[in-house]
Amino acid sequence: MSREAQRHILVTSALPYVNGAIHLGHLLEDIQTDIWARFQRLRGNVCHYVCADDTHGTGTMLRAEAEGITPEAMIEAVRVEHAKDFADFLIHHDRYHSTHSPENEARCALIFERLRDNGYIFTGDVEQLFDPERGLFLADRFVRGTCPKCGADDQAGDNCDNCAATYAATDLIEPKSVVSGAAPELRSSTHYFFDLGQFEAVLREWTSNYVQPEVANKLAEWLDSGLKAWDISRDAPYFGFKIPGTDDKYFYVWMDAPIGYMAAFENLAADIDGLNFDDYWEAGSAFEVHHFIGKDIINFHCLFWPAVLTGSGYRRPTRVHTHGFITVNGTKMSKSRGTFINARTYLDHLDPEALRYYYATKLSGNSDDMDINLDDFVQRVNSDVVGKVVNIASRCAGFINKQFDGQLASKLESPELWRDAAAKAEVIAEYFEAGNFNRALREVTELADRANEYIAEHAPWKLIKEDGKRDLTQAVCTQGINQFRLIMIYLKPVLPGLAERSEAFLNVAPLSWDDLDAPLLDHTLNAFSPLFARIDSKDVDAMVAASTENETPPETSDAPSNTTSATSDDAGADAPSTINIDDFAKVELRVAKVLKAEPVDGADKLLRLTLDVGDHERQVLSGIKPAYDASELVGKLTVVVANLAPRKMKFGTSEGMVLAAGPGGSDIFLISPDSGAKPGMVVS
Ligand code: 2FM
Ligand code: ZN
Repeated sequence: MSREAQRHILVTSALPYVNGAIHLGHLLEDIQTDIWARFQRLRGNVCHYVCADDTHGTGTMLRAEAEGITPEAMIEAVRVEHAKDFADFLIHHDRYHSTHSPENEARCALIFERLRDNGYIFTGDVEQLFDPERGLFLADRFVRGTCPKCGADDQAGDNCDNCAATYAATDLIEPKSVVSGAAPELRSSTHYFFDLGQFEAVLREWTSNYVQPEVANKLAEWLDSGLKAWDISRDAPYFGFKIPGTDDKYFYVWMDAPIGYMAAFENLAADIDGLNFDDYWEAGSAFEVHHFIGKDIINFHCLFWPAVLTGSGYRRPTRVHTHGFITVNGTKMSKSRGTFINARTYLDHLDPEALRYYYATKLSGNSDDMDINLDDFVQRVNSDVVGKVVNIASRCAGFINKQFDGQLASKLESPELWRDAAAKAEVIAEYFEAGNFNRALREVTELADRANEYIAEHAPWKLIKEDGKRDLTQAVCTQGINQFRLIMIYLKPVLPGLAERSEAFLNVAPLSWDDLDAPLLDHTLNAFSPLFARIDSKDVDAMVAASTENETPPETSDAPSNTTSATSDDAGADAPSTINIDDFAKVELRVAKVLKAEPVDGADKLLRLTLDVGDHERQVLSGIKPAYDASELVGKLTVVVANLAPRKMKFGTSEGMVLAAGPGGSDIFLISPDSGAKPGMVVS
């Protein structure tokens, strides 16, 4: 079998903040990265996976003060806890470091000095709210006050919960410092800026080649609207690294965090003979650097970071792999619903590999959002892993062990069946490489289906009773065991624990991609014991119950919750679905015509739409004002969820929901049927 030349790869996941526990959201990213890294190693490439805690900022300083410990002691305790959570999900970080490390401090200073000496740093004065009692400049989240738009009390420093307005903290009426309660003052201070605009040409080239297409499009919009210089400093007191040549200025946490990728790798390289930092990071290196991130932080990783690297004489990333957000059971993770699930709570109830498998089925290598449906999770894992894959081994192992002393035959009953499954290697490898684990697993489950069909057709339980069919029975079961072994090679990046237990049963050295070259014959198996336990949905219920906290439900506001954003999943028509046809049939979608559209007094985002839905008119409040002028909507056709229970909102009752696509803000697009559709028509 021909092999590609061995690659040298460094992979990272985004660094979790030190201020909270690891939860399902972090796990999606680190499981995805770990599967990709394990796949690379299985193929014979050299692949190092590093991560770290993201530790700096005012928040860390204040929390440590409140707990009466040093920030260093606090962040180390959290780092150990985070590292253990990840390890218990079989996520193999070669190093789980901290951004508060000597390597990071030195690297930040070096990079800053190079950027400064190369003419990319300038200073400027910034006015900001200052807490005179605490002697502290206040980031927006440390200021609260009265909303300048609707007058609601006790609103956050950047947006209002009540009317969804966004504003500057300096616009708040009667602002208060969250830290001391004092009224903040406006003060000016000198900040350091990184002149991102000088990298426009480099970034245009890089972003059009080394990120997913939909991410490149988003970045192109930002590049087109002009790159602003980036404020990389914060005033003392601050928990972080001091900027060289200053007494009271610190690197902003987002400056030192990505440099933390380099620092974690440097810390690892110091422990491994022959592993050299410069080989991976020097400009022009042929070694690879891959970052896995969520789509909320693409600006940092796909604009600032490649620019900082370029400006300081390092290489740019080989690729940034961006994933979407998760919802659980169709909605944002919620403590009151018990769907804000921490890693440790999950581990208290369920098998980590079940989540690894389920996440892999949801990942298609793009940045679409994905829903984690807990019923679907149980069904998918039980059906695929237990019902299809492990079933192959358990159906054949008994015969081989009891009838043939654990001995496999010297030839396969159907060499062709084996060759067909082995021939899938390159297709499956391409899917893994592209992060399309969903398609890789669909190939693998098809192979498992074929293996099960083969066993059913040849029925070794009947053959063994027939005269003269002993050898055939052994060959058939040897075939089954070999189909299982192939499948376990393909699944090993996703299910490393199951692979290890299978290796013990098969009595073989750790499986690698090279083992696809030849079947396992004339070989003695070890005793078989169950390899994977079915998920009991009671355990899922117990996990949800353990995650449920009483939370005051948010008051209904005019946030765009009455607009539904369409997110697509390119996994294909037979991708795992999260609702069944009966669920879908409950939703009554009808064509509606906008008769009237008017702004809602006091609401920033809402339009009041009067809709003709065929046999009557209805009023729907819709959060599409940032994207549409009321007048341009009149006469338009759209689609309404007609059987949605009326919702009482702050500004009136909404009798349904119109469908729109897009991330929000001015990027909302009303779904419209082709002209010719008539109000009241059922959409199916
Ligand atoms: O968004 C976050 O959770 C950040 N802590 C990620 C940092 S990633 C990197 F740049 F360090
Ligand atoms: Zn408001």
